[in-house]
Amino acid sequence: MIDYQGVAYAYSGAEEVLRNVTQHVNKGEFVAVIGHNGSGKSTLAKLTNALFVPTEGKVLVDGLDTSDKSNVLSVRQKAGMVFQNPDNQMVTTIVEEDVAFGPENLGIEPSEIRKRVDSALASVRMGKYALNAPNNLSGGQKQRVAIAGILAMLPEVIILDEPTAMLDPLGRKDVFDTVRSLNKERGITVLFITHFMEEAASADRVLVMSDGEIVMSGAPKEVFKEEEKLNELGLALPLSSWLAHRLKEAGIPVNETTTDEEIADELCRLYLNT
Ligand SMILES: Nc1ncnc2c1ncn2[C@@H]1O[C@H](COP(=O)(O)OP(=O)(O)OP(=O)(O)O)[C@@H](O)[C@H]1O
Ligand SMILES: [Mg+2]
Repeated sequence: MIDYQGVAYAYSGAEEVLRNVTQHVNKGEFVAVIGHNGSGKSTLAKLTNALFVPTEGKVLVDGLDTSDKSNVLSVRQKAGMVFQNPDNQMVTTIVEEDVAFGPENLGIEPSEIRKRVDSALASVRMGKYALNAPNNLSGGQKQRVAIAGILAMLPEVIILDEPTAMLDPLGRKDVFDTVRSLNKERGITVLFITHFMEEAASADRVLVMSDGEIVMSGAPKEVFKEEEKLNELGLALPLSSWLAHRLKEAGIPVNETTTDEEIADELCRLYLNT
């Protein structure tokens, strides 16, 4: 679905901040991207929906070369982007108008827009807020409206750049679970950039960036096994992985875990024989 072929990127006049990125994201995959501040995550995101074009190499989205100007609109329709700050993404004063904004710009028929808006708001469980002012919503609700705005464009891919960074723990879980279920139930491909290792732990695959390169790629269990390497890259582990490693060091034979449920299951297996 997304093909990064030898991608490099330099902001005008500056040195490269992304190098050697060759990577393939499959249709329906949920990929988390982690990495220290300034490692290039947001730059990678913007290259994926043609906000930036590579200075070297190519990015293909569903086969469309993002460097080809005639593809830009199709690429943005196929790969929608959700940003960190929910307040910067609201463009109108009524929730449903906000969701309609994208499809209106695509020149879609009003009756079709109506259907898409209702369905998109229902998908993020915000239908009953359709006529509210975005100002009155919580951060998590605003992010769900932003996601609905992307869904109304019928995307194949959703790219989210730290969408939960400004939310409280409940809003964070709500937004993460919404995106995870859109991925599972509809097969929408997801690129989820995050600083929260617990979120990355629930992805199908984790990409680790450092200094403009993808330095690790694998299932959460494979990536989070590498505690020392991650620490060197300035990254911590999800609590569950960290605890499993400490227990292993203490001679307790736990298997590698990445989520709270898994470590709980491991402990039950060892101590309760369940
Ligand atoms: N507009 C810009 N002009 C010049 N350099 C930039 C610009 N935006 C980002 N950079 C630089 O590009 C590099 C990668 O930045 P990027 O924002 O992609 O990192 P990031 O991994 O998203 O970081 P963060 O975790 O802080 O969001 C950094 O060195 C940053 O300083
Ligand atoms: Mg960033």
